[in-house]
Amino acid sequence: MRVGVLTGGGDCPGLNAVIRSVVRKGVQEYAFDFVGLRDGWLGALRNDVVPLDIADVRGILPLGGTILGSSRTNPFKHENGVRRIQETLAARGIDALVVIGGEDTLGVAAELSRQGIHLVGVPKTIDNDVPGTDYTFGFDTAVGIATEAIDRLHTTAESHRRTLVVEVMGRHSGWIALHAGVAGGANVILIPERPFDIDQVCAWVKSRFKFNYAPIVVAAEGAVPQEGQMILKDRSLDEYGHVRLSGVGEWLAQEISRRTGTDARTTVLGYIQRGGTPSAFDRWLATRFGLHAVDAVRDGDFGTMTALRGTDIIRVPLPDAGTRTRVVDQSLYAEFGVFFG
Ligand code: F6P
Repeated sequence: MRVGVLTGGGDCPGLNAVIRSVVRKGVQEYAFDFVGLRDGWLGALRNDVVPLDIADVRGILPLGGTILGSSRTNPFKHENGVRRIQETLAARGIDALVVIGGEDTLGVAAELSRQGIHLVGVPKTIDNDVPGTDYTFGFDTAVGIATEAIDRLHTTAESHRRTLVVEVMGRHSGWIALHAGVAGGANVILIPERPFDIDQVCAWVKSRFKFNYAPIVVAAEGAVPQEGQMILKDRSLDEYGHVRLSGVGEWLAQEISRRTGTDARTTVLGYIQRGGTPSAFDRWLATRFGLHAVDAVRDGDFGTMTALRGTDIIRVPLPDAGTRTRVVDQSLYAEFGVFFG
């Protein structure tokens, strides 16, 4: 059996660990033959395929990013997209796909599976917002990077008695902000799931200064003020209709400075959260996802995705495009209220 592997959507540490475990087990235990499709669904549209065997995956476990490249290409936004993918699979003799991606890439996979393409999904994203799995790989590494940054920002905030606002990624979910904010001892954590009151934020900031501590405000890029709209730098959309988020951190610093008369600065962590080597947990989870994904291919269990349920890897149906992403539960957020202010 010839199996194609592709990585789609925003990259993250751990992608290469999945590719490695899929190829190692598929070749060694099932005598599969592998090829890589370049740059996510774009490679499938363009018949852009590279060989992928054990020699190609040696040494890539700790390597960040993806050796196959990625893109935010949506085949359903391209003329004859499905037919072009079917032609690529036929021309290359590809019998099945392992699709590694977030909710956008996997939503396309769900529809292609319904149209008869044999494939299995693996949930990936630093956002940790793919429905059906307790965690996605990429998330733990991003939280570790953000937490280390917050630790560092405490000391410079204290030195200058400033508020430091840290904007983290996560798109429309607050998982990174909540986990890194709690781990980093933030005094304010703002997430998209809970529109914030800027007056309450300023009251928390003032109360920290009263105790001679400098406040750290962690804001998810998708956090929104109760009054008014999401703060955006630009309104361009990608092929899945996503707007480019960022801007809330700078807006918060300006508002805090203006309203409290104290100094505030912003650090936007941005793509640092997606770079570099995966954490040990992400290597572990990504490796397991890959092993179970190639088992599902062997079993012909197509249209499914590997998922973490507690400490077990199970198979669940691929989430349809438009399925509500996993968001932070209000009760979980409320657990940490004792630390705000
Ligand atoms: O989905 C992962 C992610 O990093 C989000 O947290 C962020 O909003 C988005 O990708 C950025 O998209 P792009 O890489 O296309 O700029």
